[in-house]
Amino acid sequence: MAAEVVHALQPKAGQVIVDGTFGGGGHACQLAKSVMPDGRVVGLDRDDQAVARGESMLSQLAKDDPALAAVITLYCCSYHDAERALAAESIPHADAMLLDLGLSSDQLVDTTRGFGFSLEAPLDLRFDTSQGMTAAEMLQRLSEPEIADLIYQFGEERYSRRIARQLVQRRRQRRPVRTTTELADLVRRCVPRSKNHDIDPATRTFQALRIAVNRELDILQQALQKACDWIRPGGRLAILSFHSLEDRLVKQAFRQSDRWEALTRKPVRPTDQECHDNPRARSAKLRAAIRKTE
Ligand SMILES: C[S@@+](CC[C@H](N)C(=O)[O-])C[C@H]1O[C@@H](n2cnc3c(N)ncnc32)[C@H](O)[C@@H]1O
Repeated sequence: MAAEVVHALQPKAGQVIVDGTFGGGGHACQLAKSVMPDGRVVGLDRDDQAVARGESMLSQLAKDDPALAAVITLYCCSYHDAERALAAESIPHADAMLLDLGLSSDQLVDTTRGFGFSLEAPLDLRFDTSQGMTAAEMLQRLSEPEIADLIYQFGEERYSRRIARQLVQRRRQRRPVRTTTELADLVRRCVPRSKNHDIDPATRTFQALRIAVNRELDILQQALQKACDWIRPGGRLAILSFHSLEDRLVKQAFRQSDRWEALTRKPVRPTDQECHDNPRARSAKLRAAIRKTE
């Protein structure tokens, strides 16, 4: 949704834009073209491997298009700590900020992380692999009702109790679920397949575990509260979300806060052409708001 993001943020030459979820740097490069030569794009990513890939992409860009590369700086940092990167850049306020909350293609094909569950991988699911519990560890430590609640709350999965029971049964038999395919197969045995078969029954459970392991909703909530301190009055915030729990938080924050004026009453959706070319875009919802002047 590159064009829709640019339309929402209206980047202009000389502006400072924070890309809170740098990923492969596609949006960052697009935004950098609009703010160059004097503006800045401050990219953040919580995944140090994404940052390492981003840095090598930027050093190649420095050879191909030095003026464009010079506009972009990259930090390994969660977007809810954006003030750290702004302080390091001596930037009091940004003109705009983007959060693109999904997974990057690199993460989905990485067989050490467990994000793309069609590939055999350890059940990790952490964006930041330097801290916190992996999903496999979480499934080892939580009680059966805690696992069921987590899968119900963060995955909106009706069969959460059945899944939790099977997971704990395996634990008791001393063969806990440790890999993506073990978990996906267990969930598929617990959940009847939907009639239209368009979504794998394991999707909701993996979403729930990823949200829990990374505290994704808590981090988004904190960022929504703090973003008005990072963005100047009249500046813009655009958020691309990929499931209803995230979209609900964004919608509420833009509607209820007296510091934001929503630019989108209904979320902007990708075009049919984009969904056809990139099926992962199907669930994307873009909302944007302007920071009110006080
Ligand atoms: C969908 S990708 C972004 C793709 C990017 N917009 C592009 O054009 O290539 C989402 C990225 O956000 C990162 N991420 C997830 N949670 C984060 C957080 N709390 N802070 C910073 N980055 C985060 C992920 O590691 C991933 O690289």
